[in-house]
Amino acid sequence: MRVLTVLAGLGAVLLNQAVQVVAKENLSGCGHNLAVYWGQNPWGGQHLEDSANWEQNIDHYCRDDTIDTILVSFLINYNLGGLPELNLANHCNTTYADTKVHHCPDIAKGIKYCQSRGKKVLLSLGGAEGRYGFQDDQGAVKFAQLLWDMFLGGDHDIRPFDDAVLDGIDLDLEHGGPTGVAAFVGELRRLYSQDQSKAYLVSAAPQCEFPDSNLGKPLEEAWFDMVFIQFYNNWCGLVNFDNVWAWNYDTWDKLAKRMVNKNTKLYLGAPASTGAGRGYVDFDRLTHIYKNVSSQYDSLGGIMLWDTSNAWQNTNFQGGNGQTNFASAVGEWLHQQRQC
Ligand SMILES: *[C@@H]1O[C@H](CO)[C@@H](O)[C@H](O)[C@H]1NC(C)=O
Ligand SMILES: *[C@@H]1O[C@H](CO)[C@@H](O)[C@H](O)[C@H]1NC(C)=O
Ligand SMILES: *[C@@H]1O[C@H](CO)[C@@H](O)[C@H](O)[C@H]1NC(C)=O
Repeated sequence: MRVLTVLAGLGAVLLNQAVQVVAKENLSGCGHNLAVYWGQNPWGGQHLEDSANWEQNIDHYCRDDTIDTILVSFLINYNLGGLPELNLANHCNTTYADTKVHHCPDIAKGIKYCQSRGKKVLLSLGGAEGRYGFQDDQGAVKFAQLLWDMFLGGDHDIRPFDDAVLDGIDLDLEHGGPTGVAAFVGELRRLYSQDQSKAYLVSAAPQCEFPDSNLGKPLEEAWFDMVFIQFYNNWCGLVNFDNVWAWNYDTWDKLAKRMVNKNTKLYLGAPASTGAGRGYVDFDRLTHIYKNVSSQYDSLGGIMLWDTSNAWQNTNFQGGNGQTNFASAVGEWLHQQRQC
């Protein structure tokens, strides 16, 4: 919608459609994508004295070709009556007057830069902290409209990232229950369909334990483009890949086949360093597991890493073709697996 109003005329429409086709191919047809969470600076939280190495602005992580999708984390407090609140750790410390809503022009510029490099930038809702959850479908539907207006293709006086239009919404719901989530996604997709200028996405990040206590039901009922399964911090994680009692990708594959979107892509979610979560596996092991799963299941779409701050500090891993951080090494390797 925004692009079309700026570049009026048929030529612009055609150009815009061509761009969309390429972006879609990168995210599904060719597959083997890398998605990484940004915005929480957890490495910095564990190294308070070393602020020089804290997480940088989002554009820093879009300079090479290796990340395909960046998940801005998190919108932590929402559906509480007022406007939703972000937590972006060290990145943005200004708010709109008389509100708790961040206003982040530097991040907005960074988001646009990432998008200009062909990357999808999604806003992630939830996380381990924060107060969120829906009481009923009506509240969830109303909140979808507010998000559309504040972060996506709609309009609002208060837009934390100004005129940057995000590419979609990710649900990392770690509490709050399943109530209203499917209705929320349904309304988001209805709003998405009103703006043909962009291929908006919706994703979810469940724990690998099946079914996930918050997202289990919504995953059965609503449309998702991508599911970033957290194969860490849990018994079913990557470290137990060789244990047939623990490793459950097959269960997730069966879910993918009965989901509303028959082309949903599942991602292996992994910690980007030993400090990023329980159950880190190094580059050689991660790529070995990925190859194995990929050879058996066409539902596999890529790897998700938590998170940029840890990935860029992880410079000491086996393999990786000379790349100096874990995410770039994994992303480059993934893209080498593409057949198109
Ligand atoms: C806010 O962030 C800017 C840029 O990172 C920094 O220069 C400034 O000192 C911060 N202000 C406060 C009050 O933390
Ligand atoms: C698609 O992927 C290729 C190879 O990684 C990259 O050069 C290109 O910029 C990407 N394009 C889009 C639109 O994502
Ligand atoms: C995948 O890994 C499993 C468990 O280690 C193994 O039994 C199986 O033979 C592997 N399959 C392929 C195609 O590598």
